[in-house]
Amino acid sequence: MPVADSIMFRNATEADLDLIMDIEAASSGRWERSLFVHELGTSFSRFIVAEVSGTVAGYIVAWNVAGEIHLNNIAVRQDLRMRGLGRSLIGRIVEILAPFGPEKILLEVNEKNAAARGFYRKMGFTETGVRKKYYDDDNAVLMEKKL
Ligand SMILES: CC(C)(COP(=O)(O)OP(=O)(O)OC[C@H]1O[C@@H](n2cnc3c(N)ncnc32)[C@H](O)[C@@H]1OP(=O)(O)O)[C@@H](O)C(=O)NCCC(=O)NCCS
Repeated sequence: MPVADSIMFRNATEADLDLIMDIEAASSGRWERSLFVHELGTSFSRFIVAEVSGTVAGYIVAWNVAGEIHLNNIAVRQDLRMRGLGRSLIGRIVEILAPFGPEKILLEVNEKNAAARGFYRKMGFTETGVRKKYYDDDNAVLMEKKL
């Protein structure tokens, strides 16, 4: 069942980090808590959570730099995937940063993360290159979408 109608977006706070770390760990994410804390205090970073039924269901971290949006992290709670939350998180970050007039949105994804690559393709991203050994032994695929 889609949850898109019942999502509430807001800025992340330190109080969200326990739930965010649970989702990050369950998503095989690589971010330590200290990295999320750092993003909370970074002026050009936007760190947004999506709440469903009053609890954190997903998050997105993106940078607003030089006319581009750099998508640094996105994850949705496992039991709520494939219901439109990831799409709404990307939509929300683009909406928030629209006043800055970004021309494109960029990201790197682990070459082996077929699920995320499928998701990004559905979101209209195209693969533009590869960074060798970006994640220890794994390559990163560079993706972008014109806005
Ligand atoms: C990637 C992720 C954020 C997607 O979130 P989600 O809420 O499940 O995505 P949505 O439901 O909004 O899906 C949007 C579209 O992408 C497609 N999609 C989602 N997951 C997909 C997958 N695993 N494979 C292929 N397509 C997928 C959906 O079918 C949907 O397409 P549609 O609009 O044509 O129906 C989620 O799978 C996740 O948290 N993964 C773990 C963290 C991760 O890998 N993050 C990326 C790191 S770079």
